[in-house]
Amino acid sequence: MNIKAIVYTSNTGYTQKYAKMLGDKTGLPVYPLTDCPLPKGSEIIYLGWLMAGSIVDYKKASKLYDIKILIGSCLGTTGSMDASVRKSHKLPDDMPVFTLWGGFDINKLHGIYKLMMKIVGKAIKNKINKQETKTAEDLKIIDMLDHGGSAVDEKYLEPILKLLQ
Ligand SMILES: Cc1cc2nc3c(=O)[nH]c(=O)nc-3n(C[C@H](O)[C@H](O)[C@H](O)COP(=O)(O)O)c2cc1C
Repeated sequence: MNIKAIVYTSNTGYTQKYAKMLGDKTGLPVYPLTDCPLPKGSEIIYLGWLMAGSIVDYKKASKLYDIKILIGSCLGTTGSMDASVRKSHKLPDDMPVFTLWGGFDINKLHGIYKLMMKIVGKAIKNKINKQETKTAEDLKIIDMLDHGGSAVDEKYLEPILKLLQ
């Protein structure tokens, strides 16, 4: 791999936090997809937030750049959406994909995203409430949906840093 930069799309800032943390740890430059100076075809790590099961602007980023590692920040525990993201973007088995537990703040959302999140939030809660037992993480997700909060943590970047060694 000859990764040139970390490129991200973030709506409310949690994905940007992960992108910056990864930049600090790797020394790679960090750019938002909307303002990225890299030439077409450059190798990158792409991070986006999860919207309705897909990583926002993955397609756009993959047309411009050669994504070597794909990362999504989500409202689920770290790793819990790796398989569904792989499926929804039809990614090959050897493509490194990581979903990281992000954050949520309804006050940072507007318009259609706010409306959509009310629906997605209900669906996430219903799924958890149907489970016979709830883990501490499940309870934290419910609390985040009700009151907002962040689960962004640099420890979740460890497997990605290992891959880059
Ligand atoms: C409209 C909308 C849809 C979302 N859909 C999902 C989803 O399908 N699965 C999920 O885990 N998180 C979902 N989320 C939660 C975000 O992916 C999560 O809060 C993420 O960390 C936000 O990153 P950001 O601050 O960079 O925008 C959704 C959020 C919004 C606003």
